[in-house]
Amino acid sequence: MILIAPSILSADFAALGAEVAEAESSGADWIHVDVMDGQFVPNITLGPVIVKAVSAHTSLPLDVHLMIEAPERYIADFAAAGAGVITVHAEACVHLHRVVHQIKELGILAGVAINPGTPASAIREVLEDVDMVLVMTVNPGFGGQAFIPSMLRKIRQIRQWANEVNPGLHIEVDGGVTEATAPLVAEAGADVLVAGNAVFGRSDRAAAISAIRAAAAP
Ligand code: DX5
Ligand code: ZN
Repeated sequence: MILIAPSILSADFAALGAEVAEAESSGADWIHVDVMDGQFVPNITLGPVIVKAVSAHTSLPLDVHLMIEAPERYIADFAAAGAGVITVHAEACVHLHRVVHQIKELGILAGVAINPGTPASAIREVLEDVDMVLVMTVNPGFGGQAFIPSMLRKIRQIRQWANEVNPGLHIEVDGGVTEATAPLVAEAGADVLVAGNAVFGRSDRAAAISAIRAAAAP
């Protein structure tokens, strides 16, 4: 089953409550929340205060993507704010295995993300420990960038490893997901599709979500 996770990075930040409520009524499965610290990525977005405010407007799982250095400092805060999934970048964690277990101990799903320039092998040793791997299909920091096709090989490699050691693993893709790229990532083995521009950039969010879902799972 394919899950669609609209990214609020492309939503109207002055009307986030209404935006997430509309995404939910339009058929979203998760709400993807991009947290940026101006250090790990060249942009700054939001913190636990906003996650808590958003959580009051939806019953969907909040899929919190931490693009921040040393994320272990804030995991408890984001979990308390209502995160259902917390994903940290392998590149931002000195002790990745420890951080993954720190998330799991809070009773929520743990994900690990890798940038386009990071090989799949960077997450191989935690594949049995995580609930999800997020393969970045753009360089993180901004919405609306073009999908990097060579990441399909990486998705396939991770799905192949997961079939051996963690068959229930979610593979999420983030960046440049559209009706055109959704079938490619689904065929490669991804099952959670983040879409910012392709959902919040369109006036009819329900049509946008169903078009991506239909393209991914024909
Ligand atoms: C990029 C973020 C993405 C972004 C995706 O740093 O992690 O979640 O919002 O945006 P689109 O779908 O517009 O490429
Ligand atoms: Zn993201």
